[in-house]
Amino acid sequence: MNVLVVGGGGREHALCWGLAASPLVDALYCAPGNAGIAADATCVPIAVDDTPGLIAFCKEKKIGFVVVGPDGPIVDGLVDRLEAAGIPTFGPSSKAAALEGSKAFTKELCARHGIPTAAFARVTDLAAAKRHIASATPPIVVKADGLALGKGVRICATRAEAEQACAEMFGGALGAAGKEVVIEEFLAGEELSFFALVHGEQVLPLAAAQDHKRVGDGDTGPNTGGMGAYSQPPLHTPALERRILDEIIRPTAKAMVAEGRPYVGALYAGLMVHNGAPKLIEYNARFGDPECQVLIPRLKSDLLTLLMATRDGTLNKVNARWREQTALCVVMATRGYPGAYDKGSVIEGLEEAATLPDVTIFHAGTARKDGAWIANGGRVLGVTALGKDAAEAQARAYAAVQRVRWPDGFYRRDIGFRAIARG
Ligand code: AMP
Ligand code: GLY
Repeated sequence: MNVLVVGGGGREHALCWGLAASPLVDALYCAPGNAGIAADATCVPIAVDDTPGLIAFCKEKKIGFVVVGPDGPIVDGLVDRLEAAGIPTFGPSSKAAALEGSKAFTKELCARHGIPTAAFARVTDLAAAKRHIASATPPIVVKADGLALGKGVRICATRAEAEQACAEMFGGALGAAGKEVVIEEFLAGEELSFFALVHGEQVLPLAAAQDHKRVGDGDTGPNTGGMGAYSQPPLHTPALERRILDEIIRPTAKAMVAEGRPYVGALYAGLMVHNGAPKLIEYNARFGDPECQVLIPRLKSDLLTLLMATRDGTLNKVNARWREQTALCVVMATRGYPGAYDKGSVIEGLEEAATLPDVTIFHAGTARKDGAWIANGGRVLGVTALGKDAAEAQARAYAAVQRVRWPDGFYRRDIGFRAIARG
């Protein structure tokens, strides 16, 4: 079968890497992909929002299955349009992707169906926001309703700060995403990400991961898309997985069917775990990035089979087998990220780093120029290693990172510290 992956980041590289290993895949394409993805798939210069271009390409190359990676095109309805054109596609409909596209929708769904999450209020003007903030106990969490590229959540230490955050959002700082704001109770505990494949009420649990969203060591500094991740974290026990499935994932899958928005695709639950009890922070309607870079290397089962079973509604006929090892990914980013940064700096040593045992380097944003690798984005590489535990995976990943010669790049030096502390 000919397969097309839509997207061009580290997540899509991991998906292409996994699909390239499938005996069921004849030709693998990625639109638009990047220079590193070209090692595993034929990259085609079609933008993720160019629906007519993608459909024409699928017809021309007789694509039998499309996998959509990023949230933007999913929320915009790319999966609906490809399916309407007769192209089987992995990912949720735009209606189902409201789980990611609207935080207010998800909070109301949780309230209607008894799914544990932080207490919340929806507000659409500053006066109402101020009324809620006046009776809230800091820290207060302020969230823009819509997609805001990871910039839509503010944890405010004081009421004044929370009012300021609301004023900025209503003032248009995040565009349309901030027209409506959700004010939430702050949840204490440790964060965990859990991934499942879902078709309607069918749920196939995948695995858990933890990521590091802050740019600096010790989880300090501004939020990013994610500076590293590992799977599985020691926090994730079989008992916790049962609770996540019984209290959060399955009730959500059922609720979405009951409300006429059956979910089909990868469901990513961002959770807060406190004393062994999980609460939902948010849903994403896709695989995580960089979490995908630590899930796929652990997967022993055929990736295409699982993704097709999700789309076809045959998840009860497949199972997912995993390596016992821990996978850990260190993101290398261009200096300046998540703020402004320059593109085009030269990266050396990649080939040598990738030859280390149990190491795979996923490319999030690279290009080739005059025979050299150059940085072409904020997050640029995801250096991933497998090890018998988090400590070994971490040592292997950093051994590879140190072979990458890139003066204009930086990385966190402590990815996995929580897992290693737990032993
Ligand atoms: P989100 O985009 O909703 O995942 O939020 C981004 C980050 O903000 C999360 O990963 C958490 O670290 C933090 N966060 C969001 N909501 C809460 C909450 N209610 N309590 C504590 N932390 C939160
Ligand atoms: N790593 C966070 C995300 O993919 O949203």
